Formats: sequence, structure tokens, C-alpha cells
Amino acid sequence: MLHPKSTEIYFKLNNGTTIPALGFGTYAPRERIPETKQAVKAAIKAGYRHIDTAWVYESEPYVGEAIKEMIEEGEVSRSDLFVTTKVWPVYWDNVEKSLNESLEALGLDYVDLLLQHWPLCFPRVEDEKNGVNGLVAYPEDDEGKPLLNEKGDFLETYRQIEKIYLNPDDHRVRAIGVSNYAIEYLEALFKECKVKPVVNQVEIHPHLPQLELNKFCHNHGILLTAYSPLGSDGAPNLKIPLVHQLAEKYDMSLNDILISYHIRKGNTVIPRSLNPVRIASTIEFAPFTQEELKQLDNVGIEEPARFVDAAFAQQIPGFGKSKK
Ligand SMILES: NC(=O)c1ccc[n+]([C@@H]2O[C@H](COP(=O)([O-])OP(=O)(O)OC[C@H]3O[C@@H](n4cnc5c(N)ncnc54)[C@H](OP(=O)(O)O)[C@@H]3O)[C@@H](O)[C@H]2O)c1
Repeated sequence: MLHPKSTEIYFKLNNGTTIPALGFGTYAPRERIPETKQAVKAAIKAGYRHIDTAWVYESEPYVGEAIKEMIEEGEVSRSDLFVTTKVWPVYWDNVEKSLNESLEALGLDYVDLLLQHWPLCFPRVEDEKNGVNGLVAYPEDDEGKPLLNEKGDFLETYRQIEKIYLNPDDHRVRAIGVSNYAIEYLEALFKECKVKPVVNQVEIHPHLPQLELNKFCHNHGILLTAYSPLGSDGAPNLKIPLVHQLAEKYDMSLNDILISYHIRKGNTVIPRSLNPVRIASTIEFAPFTQEELKQLDNVGIEEPARFVDAAFAQQIPGFGKSKK
């Protein structure tokens, strides 16, 4: 049976807009950030229409240049693309500034999705030389422990995002959502918010299937977006024996199997690569059976592993490495 490519599958969001199931991740190690431009161009040429970036990645100017050139070359128009960016916790109480800096860096007048990056508040510590736009992205105390703004209110960020989205004269944001929200945090947000997030972007892959969060979010009309689908640096999920078996059965790459796992569950997924050959050759969709999805979930039930470790995340239930 013929199946669409992963780049051709779209999902409906709870605000009525649509999102391409497969997005392109644009985090890059600091010394390789400029390579993001060629990677995004390769992704758009390969059929990707959804690009995931963030203020903190410092890749927004390169993402913007790639989009501009792809539009100039007639490859796509702005309306074909779905661009996501995020508000980092240093701007927990100044979403306006964060959004303006992101739009300016991207060279865009709107984003399709604005996310709160983490339900946390950081103090603003200046560092012109090494900071992101002059601010320390990961503030620490003298002992190297993460520094939080104890008086901060993580819901304030979402309130400000919501206010921008709901302003009928403001067209800078087409949908809003969250990232790294545990169920308890979503419940707190539901008590306050007028607009439900359209997505919750979290780490998910066979070693971390997030079954409870997936059920909770889907019951509330929220899609999950799977970050680190390959397991991040070193792509450790490529070693899973079941992924090899399925790649053989479907005659697809290992990346295709790890990406299709999310799309088959009705979630979006944002793999990253700076390798243009890999970007272009990993867009096939594997239509897994329910039994195969269960087998993939079982990998994480039997052998749970979280690969993205952030010391500041330890306090969010289920989000620290020590609380797999
Ligand atoms: N919201 C959040 O807090 C959050 C957190 C983390 C990430 N994200 C988003 O999610 C995106 C993806 O997650 P991620 O960046 O952590 O990692 P990922 O997509 O799981 O893995 C990317 C790494 O896997 C390597 N890779 C891919 N295919 C490979 C293959 N066949 N063989 C060997 N290596 C391979 C890539 O190297 P090559 O470049 O050589 O292909 C790259 O180093 C990010 O870019 C970002 O947009 C969001």
C-alpha cells in the first residue's frame, strides 16, 4: 500500500490551524550554529515545512537567512512554512522582548507557534561576551547550582503569551503552547488560562514513551511534540534492536522508524541533523501496527532512559535524569 511521506502528513491543532507532523530541529552545538542555514535549506528542499527554533539556540538568524533564500528562490512561500520559536526562562516576565528579539533575528513578522520553553523563571544576569543576546542563558550560583528566580511565577509567562495571542490587533503569533510541562503544571495552567496550549513539546522516544502525559494531553486536545527523537547527541536510540528489526521489515532507515513512531501516534516530531544527505533521506513514513507501537513503547517501560539532562529541570516532576 502506498503511504504519504512524513513531510506530507499534517495534524489539526485545537485552535483550528494545522501543523506539519514532521518538523526540523535547529538546536546546534555553539561552534556549529552557522551550519544551521544550509541544514534548514536542505530540509526545505527535502519537503520539510515545519521548523522548530528557540531564542536560546542562537540559530534564529541562520534559520531566517535560509527561509529568506528559499522564498527568494521560489522553493516555498512564507505561508507554506510553520515556524515555532520559544520564550526562554530569563524572559519569563518579558515575553514581548523575547518575541521581538526572535522575530527580528528570524526576519519574520509572525511565528506560527510560540511556546513557553520551560515552566521556570531565571534571573537576568548580564554577560555581553558569552551570553545569548547579552544574557546568561543558564544562570548558576557560586557553587555551580542552577539559579532560579524564587519570586518568579511560571504561569506569568503563559499569561503574557496568551495576551499577545488574544489581542485582535496583534498578528505576530498564530498559535500558542508550552514545552517541558508535567501533568501537574498543565493542571495549574488550566485553572488560569483562557486558551489551551496547542502542543506540549517534551522529550519522547521509545526509551521514554511518556504514556501518561500522552494520554492526558490527547484527552485535553493537546498534541505532544517529540524532541530528541534520536536520543540527542550521538543518537543512542539508533542502537535499539527493535528499531533495526522494523527498519528491515519496512525497508526504511533507522531514523525513519524513530520519526514514524511519533507520527503514527498522532504527535509531531522534530529531529535535528546538520547532514544534508541524512536530512533528505529520512522522510519515509512507516505505518506501524498497534502491536508494533506497543512493542516500541515497551522498550522504555523495560529500559527507561532520558537523554536530555538539564540540572535546572530536576525540580519538575518526571523531568530530571534522577527521576526517570
Ligand atoms: N523544548 C526543549 O526543551 C527541547 C530540548 C531539546 C531539543 N529540542 C528540539 O528538538 C530538536 C531535536 O532534538 P535534539 O537536537 O536533542 O536531538 P535528536 O534529533 O534526537 O538527535 C540529533 C543528533 O543525532 C545525530 N544523528 C541523526 N541521525 C543520525 C544517524 N543516522 N547516525 C548518527 N547520528 C545521527 C545528529 O547528528 P548529524 O547532525 O550528524 O546528523 C545529531 O547530533 C532540537 O534541535 C530542538 O529543536 C527542544
